[in-house]
Amino acid sequence: MKEVAFQQCIAASCSARFGIEELLFACTKCGSLLDVRYDWDRAVVPKKLSAFESRWNTPGRSADSRADYSGVWRFRDLLPFAPTEKLVSIGEGRTTLQEADFLATTIGMHPGQLYLQYEGFNPSGSFKDNGMAAAFTMAGVLGKSRVACASTGNTSASLALFARHARTQEGLPLQAVVFVGGGKISSAKLAQALDYGAKTIQVAGDFDDCMKLVREAAEKLDLYLMNSVNPFRLEGQKTIMYRVLEGLGWDVPDWIIVPGGNLGNTSAFGKAFAELRHLGLIDRVPRIAIINATGANALCALVNEHNLRWNDSDWDQSIIDKYWSQMETENFRAQTVASAIEIGRPVSLTKALRTIDVMDGVVRQVTDDQILDGKALVGAHGYGCEPASGASVAGLRLLLDEKVISPADRVVCILTGHALKDSAVTANYHTGGPTKPRFANPPVTCAANIEDVERILTGKD
Ligand code: F0G
Repeated sequence: MKEVAFQQCIAASCSARFGIEELLFACTKCGSLLDVRYDWDRAVVPKKLSAFESRWNTPGRSADSRADYSGVWRFRDLLPFAPTEKLVSIGEGRTTLQEADFLATTIGMHPGQLYLQYEGFNPSGSFKDNGMAAAFTMAGVLGKSRVACASTGNTSASLALFARHARTQEGLPLQAVVFVGGGKISSAKLAQALDYGAKTIQVAGDFDDCMKLVREAAEKLDLYLMNSVNPFRLEGQKTIMYRVLEGLGWDVPDWIIVPGGNLGNTSAFGKAFAELRHLGLIDRVPRIAIINATGANALCALVNEHNLRWNDSDWDQSIIDKYWSQMETENFRAQTVASAIEIGRPVSLTKALRTIDVMDGVVRQVTDDQILDGKALVGAHGYGCEPASGASVAGLRLLLDEKVISPADRVVCILTGHALKDSAVTANYHTGGPTKPRFANPPVTCAANIEDVERILTGKD
């Protein structure tokens, strides 16, 4: 794999190239983010995407059949950076694409055109497991025994779970160290990190503080950094798009809609489609809509108000620097009910600009109320999701109103986390207060007798 894969700076003016086993989280020449890249002429890739379908398998004993059981490694030819014997898997990526006709008609779309991709069905309950399978594989290749991340809750849950299942070169579990914002993380996500045995550091600050701290700690204390600045994470997350295509019989949809937080998914999706196009495996690329929460809207503001563009990888860094320093002057802190995407300074910002370019993307922001309504619609018509994921359906409703998306377009909303990740927010939506939200379904109180049940069910008061 060393002959096929390498790391490369994303800035074309620099394009510095590094070996696949060099331990880096930014270009040492210019400081930009790094990609994992492949010499596709030397890689063996199936001629047609449909070849991947035949790999669905039950777990067997060989390295190949174990890899085929994973929804990430089933596509290993499209992320060929490690030998099959070294691939780490806990059964990630066996997720579902739902054709959501009731939801489609409820929000004014044509039936058969709206799909929901449930990444909450991963073992730790979020899409993060796709990326962790890849990053833990690299940790194994590099012989790392301690791994770390900053998190709003899902990265930490996923890292903690994988650390228990992956093995060091001595055959032991890895040590997981997670940095989470004190008081910000949902209790279910905190519980996962604790239950899976991670050293859980609750920082008196928010995600952005945790991110800064974990970078320092990784450098000083020899921790392998597992946030999405680790380019291997994004290789795993590319496979979400492969599974979406597979669910659609390998047809390319018109739109992918994704919540935007740290922008790892956004970055991975653009890379996935650029590579598939380069390989001649698809003939067109879908558009992408990236949805911020209004209280955590750096990408939306930078793109739509400050005209920040990829510009052939020659983005205007001064726009970004000015924006960050203004945030600092104003002591701005991200704030949204969707705690998973409560992020002020997304680390994969520049790669997200590239995705907007590749996928002719748009960026929008939605309010907390719109996010919660979006989430409730997924609950009522699908399998439910956590608040941040509701942003994608909220974004779809907004873009239908704006007529950017047409009711006849084929749309896939990515649902990033499981409904049980933040049930306190869900219960509060349905039961809370006098200002009843639009799709609330509050419980009805009942005396312990059949007459009262009858009164309730017949609507006779
Ligand atoms: N949805 C959920 C459920 C998330 O947990 C996250 C990110 C996002 C969306 C945003 O995705 O960062 O790729 O743009 N959660 C990270 C965490 C930050 O620490 O769990 P992104």
